[in-house]
Amino acid sequence: MADNEGNIEAKNYGIGIAQKCGSFFLKGNSHADWGVQNRLARIFNPKSGNTVMLAFDHGYIMGPTSGLERMDLSIVPLIKYADCIMCSRGTLRSVVPPEMNKPVALRFSAGSTILTELNNECLAGIEDAIKLDAAALAPMVAIGDPNFEALTIRNLAQCADFTSRYGIPTLGVTAVGKNLVRDARYLGLATRVCAENGATFVKTYYCDEGFEKVVAACPVPIVIAGGKKLPEADALELAYKAINSGARGVDMGRNIFQSENPVAMIQAVKAVVHKGLSAKDAYQMYCDLAKKASK
Ligand code: 5RP
Repeated sequence: MADNEGNIEAKNYGIGIAQKCGSFFLKGNSHADWGVQNRLARIFNPKSGNTVMLAFDHGYIMGPTSGLERMDLSIVPLIKYADCIMCSRGTLRSVVPPEMNKPVALRFSAGSTILTELNNECLAGIEDAIKLDAAALAPMVAIGDPNFEALTIRNLAQCADFTSRYGIPTLGVTAVGKNLVRDARYLGLATRVCAENGATFVKTYYCDEGFEKVVAACPVPIVIAGGKKLPEADALELAYKAINSGARGVDMGRNIFQSENPVAMIQAVKAVVHKGLSAKDAYQMYCDLAKKASK
């Protein structure tokens, strides 16, 4: 019988011992179909093994979020710097030029907004995702939500069935409710549940204590969301610490598009994620690029 104490004493994380990848460069995906691997290799840079995903799907629950009021003006100029974009199908069709040719992590669940109860979601149609050439399907998974945990895990599992059938990876997006603590125990549970239910990779949040355990116990790659806007230096520090603890990239929105200088910021984030630049050097890079742009 399940219990909620069995994960308290967990300690054999094998920190420092990399999970064997097999023949494919991303952990947990060596046995995936060619289509899944090919799409993952478009999202993640096979050289660095990492990705900078630009997230601008916030409007699907938050409406015209600051920085996303006119995505044609604010987001389109950033897309060329991203390895992958994450957005809703409405935004993709209405705003993103198809010629930009970026892999798309398609927001694949929807149902409620910030005005009511979040997470009461169903999946979008797979035919449309195929038509849009989605590189990944991204359903929200609300672990610990008293009302919608089961519904959103079912959505994820159904999405994973689509992965098996059509070769499109599933990105499990962990939604952390207002009353839940983003600590290693919670994030470890949420990410592991996503992987166990078929996620090809998982998006979650960074935590200062024990994030390397979250990564170690999740058998598929983790990318981190940026969360609410932070000062640029702090956001770069967050990205640096996450990558150094084993995250394979960022799926970042507000800390890029709400930055004083989004073009400079996304380039600085890329330098951290792909080149291992320190947070300090990346912040200097951000300042230099922003200064140059203001001349
Ligand atoms: C919004 C999302 C975002 O894609 C995710 O939170 C990443 O954006 P940010 O870095 O702004 O947190 O899931 O619903």
